[in-house]
Formats: sequence, structure tokens, C-alpha cells
Amino acid sequence: MPKVTYIDVDGTRYDCEVASGLSVMEGAVNNGVPGILAICGGSCACSTCHAYIDDAWAERVGGPNDIEDATLDLANERKPTSRLTCQVQITDAMDGLVVHVAKND
Ligand code: FES
Repeated sequence: MPKVTYIDVDGTRYDCEVASGLSVMEGAVNNGVPGILAICGGSCACSTCHAYIDDAWAERVGGPNDIEDATLDLANERKPTSRLTCQVQITDAMDGLVVHVAKND
């Protein structure tokens, strides 16, 4: 199962195993990672699953589509590596992914 490391806003690391096919958001919620609120349940409508893809992974993960891009405009402190984690699906090739949780409220 791919390993995903979540780093919360305080710098605490959460090394998790997330099944391929789940979203990065689902992996965070399933593992109790704080800060990924996911209020809309993963329908790309709330921006409370906002995180920054680690620089080493940003190119491989890629950017948002137009719908996600519009919702990301609602997020706090958007950066070039910002993604809505409900829209990032885990694959076997993403073993070792690192994401930094944004300040979601
Ligand atoms: S969970 Fe609401 S936008 Fe991702």
C-alpha cells in the first residue's frame, strides 16, 4: 500500500498507508490527520481539504482542473503547489508522497 506522509500546520508528521484509489483527503481522514476538515465530503465545493504538495512531488502530482482551480480560490493562503486533497487520487506510483496541510477553517 502506498505510504503518504502528512505534515500538519504544527510540523507534526503522520506517516500513513493509503490504499490506491482513495483520495489524499480520504487517507488523511481515515488516519486522523488533523486539519483536513473535508466539510463537503469530497465534492470539490468547500476547499477545507486544502494542502500543499511537497515540492519534490508537485510536478508528478500535477495541477488542478478548472473546477478545482475555482474552488481553490476560496482557500486560505493559496500557493503554486496548492491542491484540494479530495481531488488527488492515490496510485501505486505515489508511494512516498508528502503533503503539507494548509490552515483550513
Ligand atoms: S472536501 Fe471539500 S473541497 Fe475537498
